[in-house]
Amino acid sequence: MPVELEVNQVTWIQPTQLFINNEFKDAVKKNTLETIDPSTGKVIANVQLATAEDVDIAVCCSRKAFNKVWKNTCGSDRGKLLIKLSELTEKYGELLATIEAMDSGKPMYTNALGDIEECASIYRYYGGIADKIEGKVSMDDPLALSYTRREPFGVVGAIIPWNYPLATASWKIAPALAAGNCIVLKVAENTPLSMLYFANLVVEAGFPPGVINIITGTGQEVGAKLSSHMDVDKLTFTGSTAVGQKILQAAAGSNLKDCTLELGGKSPLIVFEDCDLDQAAKWAYEGIMYNMGQICCGTSRLLVHESVHDKFVEFLLDVIARKSVAGDVFDKNTTHGPQISSAHLQKIKGYVECAKNEGAIVACGGAQWGENGYYFLPTILLNVKPGDTVDQEEIFGPVASVTKFKTYEEAISIANNTKYGLGGAVFTNDIAKGHKAANDIVTGYVWINSSNDQDYHLPFTGHKMSGIGSELGTTGIEGYLKLKSVQVNLGKRI
Ligand code: NAI
Ligand code: MG
Repeated sequence: MPVELEVNQVTWIQPTQLFINNEFKDAVKKNTLETIDPSTGKVIANVQLATAEDVDIAVCCSRKAFNKVWKNTCGSDRGKLLIKLSELTEKYGELLATIEAMDSGKPMYTNALGDIEECASIYRYYGGIADKIEGKVSMDDPLALSYTRREPFGVVGAIIPWNYPLATASWKIAPALAAGNCIVLKVAENTPLSMLYFANLVVEAGFPPGVINIITGTGQEVGAKLSSHMDVDKLTFTGSTAVGQKILQAAAGSNLKDCTLELGGKSPLIVFEDCDLDQAAKWAYEGIMYNMGQICCGTSRLLVHESVHDKFVEFLLDVIARKSVAGDVFDKNTTHGPQISSAHLQKIKGYVECAKNEGAIVACGGAQWGENGYYFLPTILLNVKPGDTVDQEEIFGPVASVTKFKTYEEAISIANNTKYGLGGAVFTNDIAKGHKAANDIVTGYVWINSSNDQDYHLPFTGHKMSGIGSELGTTGIEGYLKLKSVQVNLGKRI
C-alpha cells in the first residue's frame, strides 16, 4: 500500500506497488524490498518486489495495449501525450527531485533538480519527433511503387540503473513511445521510488493503460526474465558491461530480440600544454565529481602533459577545496552527497587502497566523510601509470587518477588503452589539435574544452565494450523502429 513520507518539509503519498496497466498492484508473491536513504543508511520504505510472474503479467498487458490501442494511435497524438508528460514533469519537479534526492543521495539543489530539467526536455523533444517518422520511396522502377515503412517493435523491455533513475527512464520511455512502442520498465533495486511516483504522472497525462508499465525487481530474476522473454521484442539497458553481456546472451538464447546497451566507461580527459589550465581544472572537477562520480561517461582518467602537470594539479585541488561541499542533500550549499550504498562505498575504498599499493599518491580525499551514510570524499590519485588497476577498471565514484604524458601520440595511445569507449575530453587552444584528438580518441562522445556537459540533441553511443546502438538525438528513435519494405506492382505481368 502507498505510504506517507515526509522530508525537507514536503509530505507526499508514495506509491510502493508495481505499476501495471495504469494501476498500482501488489506483486503476485507479495514479497517486498527495502529501499534505503544513502545519506543516513536508514530504510525509507518497503516496496513490492516483482518476480517472473509479474513480468509475464506486465508484458501481456503491454502487448494488449500495443495491439488494441497504441499501434493505431497516430504519431501526433503520441507526441501530445509525451509533451503532456514533459509539462507534468515540470509541474511536479520539486517533489520528484525531493524523492530522487532522498532515495539516491543526489544533492537536491545542485544535482537532482537538474535531472528534472533534463527529463522534461527529453519528453518534450521526443514528443516533437513522434509525428516526423518517415519512410523512403525508391524511384528506380517505373512499374513499381517501392517504399519503406519504419514500424515500432511492439513491446520494449527497459532495465535501468540507480545513478540517474528519472533521467535514464526518460532516455528510454520517450523515444520508445515516440516510435510507437509500449514499454515495461524495471527500475534498479536501490532507487525504486521516483519512478513509482512518476507513474502517477503517466495516468494524469492520459496514457492508455498498458502503454507504460513500471516494475521493481532484482536483476537476477526480473531483469533476466525481461531479457529472455519471448514476447519482449526489444531490450534497452543501461548499467555495467558485465550485465550487458548477460542481457545479450539472454536475448540470443531466447527470441533474438534487438538490444541497445549503454554500458560502463573509463573516459580520458587530456590536458595539453597549450590549454586554459584554470578551465581544464574546473571541467575536470565537474567531469568526474558530479553525481559523486557515479556517471557512466565520467572522465576519471586525467592525462596531463608533463610541463603543466604540477600547475594543473594545484588548480584542481584548489577547485575541489572550494567547490566540493559534502553534507545534507537538502542543504542548498551541498554539492557532494553519499554514494548509493554501503557495498558501493566499500568497492570505492577498495580501489583507492589498491591504487596506493600500486604506487599512487593520494593528493586529496581517500577517505569516508561524516558519521552517517555512505559519503566518500573527492579523491585525486597522482602517479598513476597506464595499465594500473585504477587506470583500467570503472570505479564509479569520486575518484580521478592523474597520469603524465610527453607527446600527442603518447596521450592518444594512453587514452585509447582501455576496453571501454564511452566519453573523452580534450583541452587545448589549438583548434586543429582539438579536432584531430576528437578523431583519434576511440569513444562515442568527445568534448573539446569541456567535460560531461552532455547535449541530448546529440546521440550518445558507446564504442568498444561501452555499448551497442545509440540513444538520444534524432537518431535515438532509430533504435526503436524496424524497417519494412513494401513493393507494389504497377503493371508488370508474367
Ligand atoms: P548493474 O549493471 O548490476 O545494474 C543495472 C541494472 O541491471 C539494475 O536494474 C539491475 O537490477 C539489472 N540487472 C542486474 N543483473 C541483471 C541480469 N542478470 N539481467 C538483467 N538485468 C540485470 O549495476 P550495479 O551492480 O548496480 O553496479 C555495479 C557497477 O556497474 C558500478 O559500480 C558501475 O561500475 C557500473 N554501472 C554503470 C552504470 C552506467 O551508467 N553505465 C550504471 C550503474 C552501474
Ligand atoms: Mg535508495
